[in-house]
Amino acid sequence: MTTTAKPRTVGAARTRVEGREKVTGAARYASEQPFEELAHGWLVLSTVARGRVRAVGEEAVRTLPGVLTVLHSGNAPRLTTDFVSLLGPPDPVVALFQHDRVPHLGWPVALVVAETPEQAREAAEALVVEYDEEPHDVAFRAGRPGTYTPEDGSAVAAKGDLEAELASSSVLVDASYTTPEQHHSAMEPHAATARWAEGRLEVLDTNQGTGWVAGDLAQLFSLDASSVRVRSEHIGGAFGSKGVRPHQVGAVMAATVLHRPVRLALTRRQVFAVTGYRSPTAQRVRLGADPDGRLRAFGHEALNLTSTLRPFVETSAVFGRVMYDARAHHTAHRLVGLDMPTPTWMRAPGEAPGSFAVESALDELAERLDMDPIALRARNEPETGPLSGLPFSSRNLLGCFEEGARRFGWAGRDPRPRLRREGRWLLGTGTAAATYPSGAAPSTASVTAEPDGGFTVRISAADVGTGARTALTLVAAEALDVDPERVTVRIGDSDFGQAWVAGGSMGTRSWSLAVVSAAEELRGRLALSDGDIPPEGITARTDTAGLLAELAKKERHSFGAQFAEVAVDVTTGEVRVRRMLGVFAAGRIINPLTARSQLVGGMIWGLSMALHEEAVRDAASGGQVGADFAGYHIAANADVPVIEADWIDDPVPDDPVGVKGIGEIGIVGAAAAISNAVWHATGVRHRDLPLRPDRIL
Ligand code: MOS
Repeated sequence: MTTTAKPRTVGAARTRVEGREKVTGAARYASEQPFEELAHGWLVLSTVARGRVRAVGEEAVRTLPGVLTVLHSGNAPRLTTDFVSLLGPPDPVVALFQHDRVPHLGWPVALVVAETPEQAREAAEALVVEYDEEPHDVAFRAGRPGTYTPEDGSAVAAKGDLEAELASSSVLVDASYTTPEQHHSAMEPHAATARWAEGRLEVLDTNQGTGWVAGDLAQLFSLDASSVRVRSEHIGGAFGSKGVRPHQVGAVMAATVLHRPVRLALTRRQVFAVTGYRSPTAQRVRLGADPDGRLRAFGHEALNLTSTLRPFVETSAVFGRVMYDARAHHTAHRLVGLDMPTPTWMRAPGEAPGSFAVESALDELAERLDMDPIALRARNEPETGPLSGLPFSSRNLLGCFEEGARRFGWAGRDPRPRLRREGRWLLGTGTAAATYPSGAAPSTASVTAEPDGGFTVRISAADVGTGARTALTLVAAEALDVDPERVTVRIGDSDFGQAWVAGGSMGTRSWSLAVVSAAEELRGRLALSDGDIPPEGITARTDTAGLLAELAKKERHSFGAQFAEVAVDVTTGEVRVRRMLGVFAAGRIINPLTARSQLVGGMIWGLSMALHEEAVRDAASGGQVGADFAGYHIAANADVPVIEADWIDDPVPDDPVGVKGIGEIGIVGAAAAISNAVWHATGVRHRDLPLRPDRIL
């Protein structure tokens, strides 16, 4: 889209700078680095959902082959856990072995360390832990007792009299939706290696922010921040799950106790248990409209579960605060504390489940109004932020719908359901809107002009698989006005200073601002120099706190339009998605190749959310049934048809880099578009995900 960009930098499709390393296996992931004298840890997780650890039978396993130590609440070093860092307080599960209480099934109760992973595993599986068990409650459903409004200031937002406007509306929708517990399922499981070297703690890890993890580890172990170094070179997916988790804490604890490097890798089942998940949601949407489709009343209440340890809000109701205006506008979150692990952010936290409910309800309203679903959304385009009153930095939602409708072939669609049939398949199409915030947070970057004519960028950014390293190479090359081949970007090292994490779709925007600002400063200094570059190079280093503080307060978001075509087998209830199209307005697109991959990846998550993903809790044990890839279904290649993602021009005039972020918006609205298409195919509304065959029939 960027007509002004130099074709070899921003806007040019580039393969990943580390692509060859990755496909040849030369790229080493966190658990693949060799170390001398490496010991291996294996976590032991509780088998009861609530109670106390009465005894840990460590004596019997300490004599097993290779066992070096067994850590548990009776002997573990004390940690500091009451702190707030870059992303708030740490997850309660990192308070490893700090007390004998068991707040949920899968709570870490011991760590066995041995010479080999096999020996550690054998001893961990032989370890007998005795519990005083107490009754537990993991039953999540709408209307259950014990719900509360979180103290979080953004839990409720309201204007106008909702009941009065509903009463004076001529067309109403009042519908309840549910989404199930979902898991991140990153390809690379969590793993860390910790060691002490020359008075410093060094941790090799797989995470979304080395500065964040280093800062939290320093707090936990009461260390000086400068004495902790965390590196995370290559990362096989994260999606919100790769912050500070028990694997780093256990590795550091054991390395400290044993004076040896210790590696702790989680198994896939442990990843399901201790690295967070998306809470199930129960949502009620109430819409009231005039006959012309204009909303008078917009109500959205969303309930999610959290642990008994800490409130975590899945912010489903924020979606409507950006998307639609109405005279009365009420959105609220509620929580219920259960004997479950604490949920966490998972790709498009809030917007993913929230858009399913709201965009399904909009489709139901369009049906009742006998109005085209896109026309209904156009009728309700707000001029300014519905609740904030602030201007949008840019809002091209209707442009997305126009371009999407044209390419998808929406015009001439018969809105009536259950009319198209192909043998045993009923066919239908659906659409939904998408949005996700475009934020930025202060970050530090340095750029060095090297004597050989190259440039080195250093920033503690993370490439979780997005292509961030490549994007920053293009951004730096453009800012320096040099060929990208002359730029080396080094990321994933907390020693490069504090920077924002790969999260909240804020990474590339936050880091680009820092890299551009350092590059500009360097160019200024080079212009003043006599052209001689000393052996150590010339370095400019900046941070963006001041720059961000000056940015005008606006509603800054990406937008998009999702389209789906489905076929529903009337004999088996199977839903096949035949094609999807997403058109996005997401600011300046730095690298079309990896950007498309990000957006398509998000849409595949949406497909997976619509049709497959569901973690089932067993009420009796309190545990997840089938916590593996056999039991937890994610979309496989055969489920994924033609998926197209594209974007329209979306300049953000007042933003120094014009980047909005694309990490999460691909999933937003995708499940609603599919569900709306299933209604169009069958004439039956489905308000509970996933759309399993037994629900379709
Ligand atoms: Mo993303 S859920 O902000 O890592």
